Amino acid sequence: MSSKEYFEKVAENWDHMRQSFFSVGVRDKAFQIAGVKAGQVAADIGAGTGFVTEGLISNGLSVIAIDESEAMLSQMKNRFAGIDSIEYHVGESEALPLADESVDYVFANMYLHHVESPKAALKEMARILKPGGRLVLTDLDEHQFDFLKEEHHDRWMGFKREDVKGWLIDAGLIDTAVDCAGQNCCTESACGCEKAAISIFAASGSKA
Ligand SMILES: C[S@@+](CC[C@H](N)C(=O)[O-])C[C@H]1O[C@@H](n2cnc3c(N)ncnc32)[C@H](O)[C@@H]1O
Repeated sequence: MSSKEYFEKVAENWDHMRQSFFSVGVRDKAFQIAGVKAGQVAADIGAGTGFVTEGLISNGLSVIAIDESEAMLSQMKNRFAGIDSIEYHVGESEALPLADESVDYVFANMYLHHVESPKAALKEMARILKPGGRLVLTDLDEHQFDFLKEEHHDRWMGFKREDVKGWLIDAGLIDTAVDCAGQNCCTESACGCEKAAISIFAASGSKA
């Protein structure tokens, strides 16, 4: 099963599943690093069922939600029915369906470890940022829990922070940083024999 097929399959349950994986502290940290301001426009990449989007609209931003899974976006549309400050687009990591320099912020939570080329995905996220815009992504530090590949179709076993920082710089961003998000991603294997608590980083950069 591909990662895309996996998310199509779990879409109905994702909102429930993700509550045991990570908490709102992760997105609050991302918003704090970005310095979000009401009235601005943010892209939520790999938006899933709208965990990050929910926080952004509560803070008065408009959101462009992008995901390769129509099933995840469809859950999100049901969840936010009647809210007109969200646009939804099916789109893939290396060809985001947005013009250059079109958004004030880019957020991506727990998305990077699913894409084929994290470096190319970051470059594409940087492309859509307006000058002065901020990108903040939250994802897993490098880990050894193989069961996440098998059971959750993770493509990458987290990342080394220095690699992520290098990709941000290669994408042309400035004021880059990769810090602790102050939260762990927690889950256990289907057999119950392995328990993972993986630290989460928050990586950020600005468009000159
Ligand atoms: C672990 S979920 C995280 C969802 C959401 N950001 C959250 O915090 O709940 C990863 C999401 O990224 C999407 N995704 C994975 N690979 C992608 C790709 N190459 N292009 C676009 N979306 C992708 C999946 O469909 C899924 O919705």
